[in-house]
Amino acid sequence: MGSSMASDELLEPELLEPELLEHGLLEHGLPEHALRVARTYSAAADHYALGSLSFWNRFGAGTVSRLPLQPGQSVLDLCCGAGASAIPAARAVGPGGHVLGIDLAEPLLEQASAKAAAERLPNIEFRRGNAISTGLPAASFDAVVCVFGVFFAPDMAGFAAEMWRLVRPGGVLAITTWGPGLFEPANAIFWESVRGLAPSLYKSFNPWDEITTPEALAALYARDLTSPARFWDVVLGSGYRATVDALDQDQQDVLREDVLTKLSSRSISTLRTDVVFGRAIRRTE
Ligand SMILES: C[S@@+](CC[C@H](N)C(=O)[O-])C[C@H]1O[C@@H](n2cnc3c(N)ncnc32)[C@H](O)[C@@H]1O
Repeated sequence: MGSSMASDELLEPELLEPELLEHGLLEHGLPEHALRVARTYSAAADHYALGSLSFWNRFGAGTVSRLPLQPGQSVLDLCCGAGASAIPAARAVGPGGHVLGIDLAEPLLEQASAKAAAERLPNIEFRRGNAISTGLPAASFDAVVCVFGVFFAPDMAGFAAEMWRLVRPGGVLAITTWGPGLFEPANAIFWESVRGLAPSLYKSFNPWDEITTPEALAALYARDLTSPARFWDVVLGSGYRATVDALDQDQQDVLREDVLTKLSSRSISTLRTDVVFGRAIRRTE
């Protein structure tokens, strides 16, 4: 039941300063995909809380209810939006726990903060930042949650691996995505109408369709949690180190890139760790 929250000092360098945003400075520093998301969901905020979108709260609460959260624990909610999962998480961990919600859309964060204030939740904090690169220390949360957010990352596998890095040993990572056929039959009608009006916009932004099955989500967990980069840690922390250290820096970089690229391209996610135990019992006579 650790509650090792990152300090503000550690978080701030990677997060976006509102003053700078006002001057448009940091917007330029955001990658294109993040800018698009920030603009899209900042605009969507004016409809986000309508009754016809009550599914945000339903599935946020549904995600949290499946977690083994205990009072006093720390939770990180990445792509937290208006707090659909962060608020139930804050209730679950109680006043002794802590929830940090991070999102790029300031208007949604304002809604989230207003809900937390209305409920007088003392243990929840919302910050604007890029969920993909928070700069938070490894293993610092009992639970990391991402509801309907993972598919916005250009490198979903990398994002899942980053989330996993933030989970403490014994902690939990919860990723929720949409299932197949989202909003059908209206979805198909919407896109056909768009195609008629502006063909270049046809399915130009629908990343949620990229990961819609339990198998795909399980594969994301399996692939990311055993990221090839982990093998390089094994290399550097074991007897392979002698070989690596015998190379100059350029050669080491080439070797690392070569090995990790091959592991990735062959979809290698598990490594053998067989052990041969020897045991001899000495006779008494
Ligand atoms: C579909 S909404 C879901 C929000 C919330 N989790 C919920 O279930 O209501 C996706 C959210 O992800 C946020 N988002 C997407 N990519 C992000 C990123 N790289 N960093 C921070 N927030 C991001 C968007 O701003 C948006 O609020």
